[in-house]
Amino acid sequence: MCGIVGIIGKSEVAPFLLDGLKRLEYRGYDSAGIATVTAKGIDRRRAEGKIVNLEAAVEKRPIHGATGIGHTRWATHGVPNETNAHPHSDGTVALVHNGIIENFQELRRQLTAQGHVFESETDTEVVVHLISAGISAGKTPKQATQDALQRLKGAFALAILFTGHDGLIIGARKGSPLAIGYGEGEMFLGSDALALAPLTRRISYLEDGDFVVLAAEGAQIFNLLGQPVERDIHITQLSGAMIGKGAYRHFMLKEIYEQATVIGDTLNSHFNPVERTLTLPPMPFDLSAVERVTLVACGTSYYAAMVGKYWIERFARVPVDLDIASEFRYRGSPVEKGGLSVFISQSGETADTLAALRFCRDAEMHTVAIVNAPESTMAREADAVLPTLAGPEIGVASTKAFTTQLIVLACLAIVLGKEKGALDRDGEAALSKALTEIPAYATEVLKSDDHIRSIAQTMLDVADVFYLGRGTAYPIALEGALKLKEISYIHAEGFAAGEMKHGPIAMIDETVPVVVVAPPDELFEKTASNVEEVIARGGRVVFIGDADGVAQFKGKAFATITMPTVKTFAAPILYAIPVQLLAYHIAALKGTDVDQPRNLAKSVTVE
Ligand code: F6R
Repeated sequence: MCGIVGIIGKSEVAPFLLDGLKRLEYRGYDSAGIATVTAKGIDRRRAEGKIVNLEAAVEKRPIHGATGIGHTRWATHGVPNETNAHPHSDGTVALVHNGIIENFQELRRQLTAQGHVFESETDTEVVVHLISAGISAGKTPKQATQDALQRLKGAFALAILFTGHDGLIIGARKGSPLAIGYGEGEMFLGSDALALAPLTRRISYLEDGDFVVLAAEGAQIFNLLGQPVERDIHITQLSGAMIGKGAYRHFMLKEIYEQATVIGDTLNSHFNPVERTLTLPPMPFDLSAVERVTLVACGTSYYAAMVGKYWIERFARVPVDLDIASEFRYRGSPVEKGGLSVFISQSGETADTLAALRFCRDAEMHTVAIVNAPESTMAREADAVLPTLAGPEIGVASTKAFTTQLIVLACLAIVLGKEKGALDRDGEAALSKALTEIPAYATEVLKSDDHIRSIAQTMLDVADVFYLGRGTAYPIALEGALKLKEISYIHAEGFAAGEMKHGPIAMIDETVPVVVVAPPDELFEKTASNVEEVIARGGRVVFIGDADGVAQFKGKAFATITMPTVKTFAAPILYAIPVQLLAYHIAALKGTDVDQPRNLAKSVTVE
């Protein structure tokens, strides 16, 4: 989290820094700041809250200079106020940081004992003082930075300015992403290529342990030992255009509506309509030899992985280990050399998932990344990439990335099933057909939008909402609950329907809405019994099912949402849409900041 940008330009950089920060705002929006260096020294402006506040501060007191750095913050250490906002500076050095300096307490103690005075509560400020101490001792900016980096534990991407060095920025990367942009007599740094896309398309990515000395003429990259290294420059395909909301009130709603299209785009990249077959890009290993699959992800992507486990086990008959990335990496799980590990991530930068990928790679597993950001670190580091073609997802709450992840996982399950001989030609054709019907059904489901909004209207004052589902509807129940809590701040929990009677049912009374995700599958009757148990205790059931299911609960459920009758296989992808819409409308009606909910960030690059 946190976005950083650095520019050595030919003219005033403040407007370009602000523009770059706007493109990075998805990484955090607790505070923002910029600093420049000129012959007069370092100058900076900072503001609590979103970048509009920083823009206002800059408009009030313009900031000059052609060399500058900027930051948008997702707070880790220290409350989100102006004092804790980056850039941090002691007058000699100014820097911005993404990541966490884990040994900052110890460094702060040592530096304080040496007379350094700290003004913020952040972990970052120790880096300012470490580098500054080196400069005071007569070291060059490069040497002072290199020595300071050796003392840092944790994760960081840094961009650093030095008083007396107009036209110099030093950047460093360990654990957190950092890209270099090459211009004509101008140079750039950014957390990702998207931030730099309007400025240049020529990009290289620093590798872990690298630092870079940036001047108008170019970049010199070094490893941690100070040895010069080369990093490839490539032409990014990312567009420099700002993505708009169109006629939609929020990005989230726009992205929910885009699903019919992007599900189709993602499927079409794997589906041959003439032969009705599915293929995956060539893998640098033999899929038919895979005996076990490990699926790892966080948050919404983890719920996609849960559905993937059901599918892979069912259609490929291959056992699947499923893990939340932050647990997996420290569990010391006995991974198998040559086994297949799959990492699912919208951003491709999530620190825990990336660390899990590296763990598996070091254990000589085959690694596959299912990512939406094509130039992300996971996409670059995995043995093979299965892209989701959702397009940029701006709303912090993931929607279209989730359903396209499900499409890719469905294709993986089918192709693996074929390779393993568990799925015959007819089986493949039937499953592929179910997938190809999804875009049209998704359009139909979206027609329930107004009805779902009217149900949302009745749920604005509730304190708790439960979501129930069985089989592949269980992860959708979990996803529905996550969507609701993250954007409406209403407490919500998802349960396997059969688990209610083991404890959670004690919470049920007439004040608790229970959203039931109940597609017409072989488990329907069992879920229906669990719904009866909830209704018998006064629970306010919002039932989501096909026409037959809805008919069964007519007059008993508080509200119903009628879905098209679809194949069981396709159901989780389609049933994700009404739970997304329900969460969206509750939050929008409550008036929360739907696209940038409090305390969250789109890309979670810290542990
Ligand atoms: C929820 C949400 C998060 C992300 C999670 C993983 O709506 O967006 O739970 O799914 O932070 O992010 P990625 O997929 O980028 O690894």
